[in-house]
Amino acid sequence: MQMKLVDLAAQNAEIREAVETEMAVVHRETAYVGGARVEAFEQEFARFLGARHVLTVSSGTDALRLALLAAGVGPDDEVITVPMTFIATVEAIVQTGARPVFVDVDPATCNMSPAALLKYLERKRFNSLNGPRAILPVHLYGMPAPMPELIAIAKRFKLAVIEDACQAHGARVKIGGRWVATGTMGDAGCFSFYPGKNLGAWGEGGAIATDNEDLARRIRSMRDHGRISHYLHEEYGYNARLDALQAVVLRAKLVQLERWNQKRRELAAAYRELFASDEVRLQHEPADASSCWHLFTIRSRRRDAIRNALLMNKIECGIHYPVPLHLQPACHALAYRSGDFPVSEQIADTVLSLPLHPHLSNLDIVRVAELVREALHSSVPPVSIEDREKRRATEMEVHG
Ligand SMILES: Cc1ncc(COP(=O)(O)O)c(C=O)c1O
Repeated sequence: MQMKLVDLAAQNAEIREAVETEMAVVHRETAYVGGARVEAFEQEFARFLGARHVLTVSSGTDALRLALLAAGVGPDDEVITVPMTFIATVEAIVQTGARPVFVDVDPATCNMSPAALLKYLERKRFNSLNGPRAILPVHLYGMPAPMPELIAIAKRFKLAVIEDACQAHGARVKIGGRWVATGTMGDAGCFSFYPGKNLGAWGEGGAIATDNEDLARRIRSMRDHGRISHYLHEEYGYNARLDALQAVVLRAKLVQLERWNQKRRELAAAYRELFASDEVRLQHEPADASSCWHLFTIRSRRRDAIRNALLMNKIECGIHYPVPLHLQPACHALAYRSGDFPVSEQIADTVLSLPLHPHLSNLDIVRVAELVREALHSSVPPVSIEDREKRRATEMEVHG
């Protein structure tokens, strides 16, 4: 039987009854966009995160774009992010009219390197018209970025902090002895409810968490055609609302989220124990961080041999991401080159996501780890630099 990277059918089996009952009510009431269920979900997710406000929107990309716009980001601004992320992070920046700038990630955590950020900010002389306005760190694979350090740097340079928490529903950072949710430490935190996320809808969806009243008010209006009352519009806005059917699914899954995340943590710990030697490189979980393990990744020069072995044994795996953003054709105008962000490039060349979801067993994890080991010691040669360059030129993105 196929072992899945993400098993949505197994999730659905757990929530189907609750969802079907609620869906029947939505169909009876015919309130399909916004409404009581969307508001209830916003309150429940805000409580889960410990945020003052949650504003739902129609995707994670919209969440990022609206959060940036509400924070005042626009043409002539720079927004600093990382090249090792999904394209949506940078799309959202470009869609505000701002210019994305990359700094490299830390090789241990795969997240924005505070040292690289500081180096960029200290080296560059900015004039007030085209300087950086915000940083956009990503909690990659569900692993919290080093927020206290990044926020301290942002404060020093008077930059807004928008968190890309699209892969980090329920990850936490310990600050002053207290666990704080990712997505609640910056000015705003953005979530995606794409179906495969730890908290996923049955379609598209997203949300912004913020404690800032002004940001919340602005986003509430912008997501709904700039409305301040039914036919009064304070500005041109967007149609970026969540629909009630998705809210029904998200409310049912939110009840399970902590338990599902806990199961992911246990399975990730099992993988970590099985890979305790230095055969493959694992994403480092700092002592003050608790990942929600959206993805469990290993890194190896023999990545492609491992991938083939898993696929041949009907075990799904993925590459997140094979081409770092600075080398994407879409980002050509930013004029970066191969070699500009060596850590991101090395991760792209070696990273592999193994199956990890709450409906796997410890035996499944042992089986995957055994196959990885076998592939590591097989006689298939590792991928050459020439092959890598060729693949970079042709590889399709794996949406996760
Ligand atoms: C890191 C990251 N940012 C942004 C997004 C965009 O979210 P959505 O697909 O809901 O627009 C995703 C989703 O895949 C993501 O993984």
